[in-house]
Order: sequence, then structure tokens, then C-alpha cells
Amino acid sequence: MRTEACIAGDRPILRVRALRKIYPSRGLFRDDRDVTAVDGVSLVLSRGRTLALVGESGCGKSTLARCVVRLEEFNSGEIRFQGADLLALRGEELRRARRRIQLIFQEPLEALNPRFSALDVVIEPLIISRDVGRREAIDRAQRVMELVGLPAARGSRLVQEFSGGQKQRLALARALITDPAVLIFDEALSGLDLSVQAQMVNLLLDLQATSKLAYLFISHDLRLVQALADEVAVMKDGVIVESGTVTDVFRNPQHGYTQKLFSTIPRKGIASLSEMAIKN
Ligand SMILES: Nc1ncnc2c1ncn2[C@@H]1O[C@H](COP(=O)(O)OP(=O)(O)OP(=O)(O)O)[C@@H](O)[C@H]1O
Ligand SMILES: [Mg+2]
Repeated sequence: MRTEACIAGDRPILRVRALRKIYPSRGLFRDDRDVTAVDGVSLVLSRGRTLALVGESGCGKSTLARCVVRLEEFNSGEIRFQGADLLALRGEELRRARRRIQLIFQEPLEALNPRFSALDVVIEPLIISRDVGRREAIDRAQRVMELVGLPAARGSRLVQEFSGGQKQRLALARALITDPAVLIFDEALSGLDLSVQAQMVNLLLDLQATSKLAYLFISHDLRLVQALADEVAVMKDGVIVESGTVTDVFRNPQHGYTQKLFSTIPRKGIASLSEMAIKN
């Protein structure tokens, strides 16, 4: 049993080593304690491969994701992107690296102005980065919108007019416009109904096949994990307690916690999404 999540692929792009994140106690109550949300996690993502991260609520998955995209500082450990130490990067180099690692979460557009048009949402990261002018940004938006199956003609529609599934496609287009190498999904498909999930799974698989993106897929939903991931890491109390290929871990979970986690899903449920994903 391995506890360092490492995809067997030979093209590592992002390495996390011994990452630790502690939220200090606010000291409001006598028994307030520091929370070690991530306690020495190591993992490797490779081009064209998907690592799933599963584990009960509060075990530190989102914290880890936020640290990787540098939305959050961490206490110790190392993150290397394309060989470079993310902590050592400064200025333009850091901004460039951050654009290439994108995080998509559940209801990702909720924080944005609902009066934004779809096009505004998709081009915003490019406009903020000032890498390219508006004309080039719009050209690129059209390309990524097509990639995610949203006709560019819908670009003038307001975000609030889109369905949940379409919003998730928009979020994906927005993430893709900066030409990322790593996409992190934090429960990104969780709010969607089954058939829309299946369409998204297919879209993500197609995208990965053509652009060799590395995915870190955080989910409670083991059916989705099975449909999408090559490897899975199981996290408990800030620690990765088991990892391996999806086939191995699903068939023969070693750690007691993993066995318990997996016993909560009906086997039939696991098969049904893979069938649907292939059919759609
Ligand atoms: N900003 C914060 N300040 C203090 N503690 C936090 C903060 N964010 C998270 N935590 C704590 O860190 C731990 C890990 O939280 P995290 O959100 O990473 O879990 P998670 O695995 O993503 O859970 P879920 O599956 O419910 O999304 C929890 O104990 C949580 O209460
Ligand atoms: Mg979370």
C-alpha cells in the first residue's frame, strides 16, 4: 500500500511534497486548538492523467487544492510545477505559473456578477492578466467555448440565463482560456444531475485526450472517480492513508478507512455512471 499519491505516468508536471497547512486557533474559547488541515501530503500529477482525491468531509481536500493554486499560504512543504519551486517564483513568472494551474469548484460562477455576459466571464482572466488585447481574447473565447460545447453565439447571453450544466461548461471555458496544464476540480460536478454529470465526464475525458491536461479530481462521488480517474488517493485527517490505481483501490482497498468509505456505495451505482458516460 502506498501513501504517496503518484501517477504511474512518465510525465510529471506538478509535484507536491510533504505539504502541511495549519489553521491557527483564534483563541476565542478555552478548548480552541490549531487545526492541521493538511498534514504532510505528497502527490504527483502527470500530463494526460487524472488523480482523484477522496475522503470524508473536513479531511483537508479543499485546503490542499487552495494551497496548490496559491490561494492559501502553507506552513511547510514544497510544490514544484514543471520542475520550478512555486514558492520561489516571483512577479511575472509566478503569475504565469498560476495561470497554468486552474481550480474549478462547485457553482464557480456564483461569486461573479450575474449581469456579466458569458463572454465577459470567459475572457475576464485574460483581460485581468493583460496578456492580450480584447480582440485576441474574444477569438480565444470563441475557441474555448466551442471546445466545451457552448456555441460562441451564446456569448452575449447573461450568465444568469444559463443552466447549472451550462454554467459549469462556462467555468471550464474560463479556466481553459489561460492555456492551463493542470486543472483541479473541487466537487465541480457535484451539483449537477446524473445525465449532465455523464456529459461533463465525457467532455473532460475528450479534453484530456487531446490536450494532455493533468487533472486533480476532488470528489465525494466514487462513481465519478471511477469514470474519470487513473489513480486515487484517499485522505483522512489531513493525511493520505492509501493510494493506487483506481482499479486496484476499488477492487481491493487495503486501509480500513478506505474499506469503510467504499462499503458505503452500492456496486450497481458504480457501474451505472460508466455505462452512461460511454453511451452519451
Ligand atoms: N479558513 C479556515 N480557517 C480555519 N479552519 C479551516 C479553514 N478552512 C478549512 N478549515 C478547517 O480545515 C479542515 C479541512 O477543511 P477542508 O475544507 O479542506 O475539508 P474538505 O476535505 O474539503 O471537506 P469537504 O469534503 O466538506 O469539502 C477542517 O477541519 C476545516 O474546519
Ligand atoms: Mg472541500
